[in-house]
Amino acid sequence: MQAEPKLFQPYDLGGLRLANRIVMAPLTRARATAGTDAANALMVEYYRQRASAGLIVSEASQISRQGQGYLQTPGAYTEEQARGWRLVTDAVHAAGGKIFIQLWHVGRISHVDLQPGGGAPVAPSAITAKSRVFTTEGFVEPSQPRALDLSEIPGIVADYAHAAELAKMAGFDGVEIHGANGYLLDQFHKDGTNHRADAYGGSIENRCRLTLEVVDAIAKIWPSNRIGIRLSPVSPANDISDSDPQPLFDYLVRQLDARQLGYIHVIEGATQGARDNLPFDYAALRKAFRGAYIANNGFSRDMAVEAVETGAADLVAFGRPFISNPDLVERLRRGAELNAADVKTFYGGGAEGYTDYPTLALNAAAVSLH
Ligand code: PHB
Repeated sequence: MQAEPKLFQPYDLGGLRLANRIVMAPLTRARATAGTDAANALMVEYYRQRASAGLIVSEASQISRQGQGYLQTPGAYTEEQARGWRLVTDAVHAAGGKIFIQLWHVGRISHVDLQPGGGAPVAPSAITAKSRVFTTEGFVEPSQPRALDLSEIPGIVADYAHAAELAKMAGFDGVEIHGANGYLLDQFHKDGTNHRADAYGGSIENRCRLTLEVVDAIAKIWPSNRIGIRLSPVSPANDISDSDPQPLFDYLVRQLDARQLGYIHVIEGATQGARDNLPFDYAALRKAFRGAYIANNGFSRDMAVEAVETGAADLVAFGRPFISNPDLVERLRRGAELNAADVKTFYGGGAEGYTDYPTLALNAAAVSLH
C-alpha cells in the first residue's frame, strides 16, 4: 500500500503534536455575543466540529475595542471574553485538536460607530481606506482615521500583551499575530498607508518596528515557538499596497527568524483572489526562516499534497473550504466531494450556514434515504 501523503501525517510544531498538516485558517464569522463580544455556545460547537484540523487558527479577535472593525467579532481583552474562549479551547482539546488565537487590531478598517466614544479609528497616517466594514447599519465605508500619536504606540503594544495573557488563561496552544490583509500592523508595514516621519515610518526598519515590538512583548508571555504571524506581502486587501514588497518582507522575516518564532503564515497572492496578482518570491521567505512555513490561498487538495511533499510548505491552511466542510481533513484524505459554501451566511446570524454543514457520514445517510 502506498504511504499516505505527508499532508495527512503528524507534524511537530514547536513541541506541539499536530495530527496532520492541514490548518484551518482564521475566518471572520461575526457570531460573538452582542454587547460582550464573547465567544458563546454556538461558537464552541462550530470549532468543535472542525477539531480534526491539525491546527485551528481562531477567527481574528480584537485586542481592544479600538481594534474592532466589524460588529460581533470576538474580543480578547476582557475576562468574560477569556472565559468564553476557554469553553472553545476545552472543546477543541477534548476532540483531539489544537488551537491558536489570532490577535488583531484593525487600525483604519473601522467605523466611528464601533469605536470607544464614537471617535475616529486610528492608523499610521490619516488616509481613509476604500473598503467596507460591518456595523448595525450593515456594510458601510470605513470612517476617516486619525494618525496615531507617537505617545499612543506603547499602549497598543500593551494591549497586544494583555490579550496574549488572556489567551493563556483561555487555554489556547499559542497565538497568531495578524500582520496581514491591510489591518493595523500591515498598514504600518506598507508605504501606501504609512506616511509617518517618526521612528515608525520611512525606512523598512521603521515600518516593521511596531510589529517587532508586538512580537517582543508577546514573547515575554509565550514561548517564541508558540507564536506565529500571518503576512500578506502582495495582497491588496483593504486598499493596501507597497512600492517594493520583496525587500520589506525579506527584512521582516529575517527579524522574525532571529526571534525564533514558531511559524510564518503567508497568504500567497491576493486574499481570496489570484495567487499570482503580483510577482513575489515566497521561497525566499521560506529559506530565510527556520520555523514552520504555513502556505495559504486557493490551495486544492493536489496543490497542498504537492507543496508539503516538495517542501515548499510545512503546513497548508484552508479558509473557505472549512466553512462548509467541518470534516475537511477526512474529505481531502479520501478525495471526496466538498460541500459548497453559502456566502450569504458568512457574517453574522445563527447556526444556519455555520454549524449545519453536513459531514461525509451525514451526506451518505442522506443519500441512502433516497
Ligand atoms: C473578512 O472579514 O473578509 C476578513 C477578515 C479578516 C481578514 C481577511 C478578511 O484578515
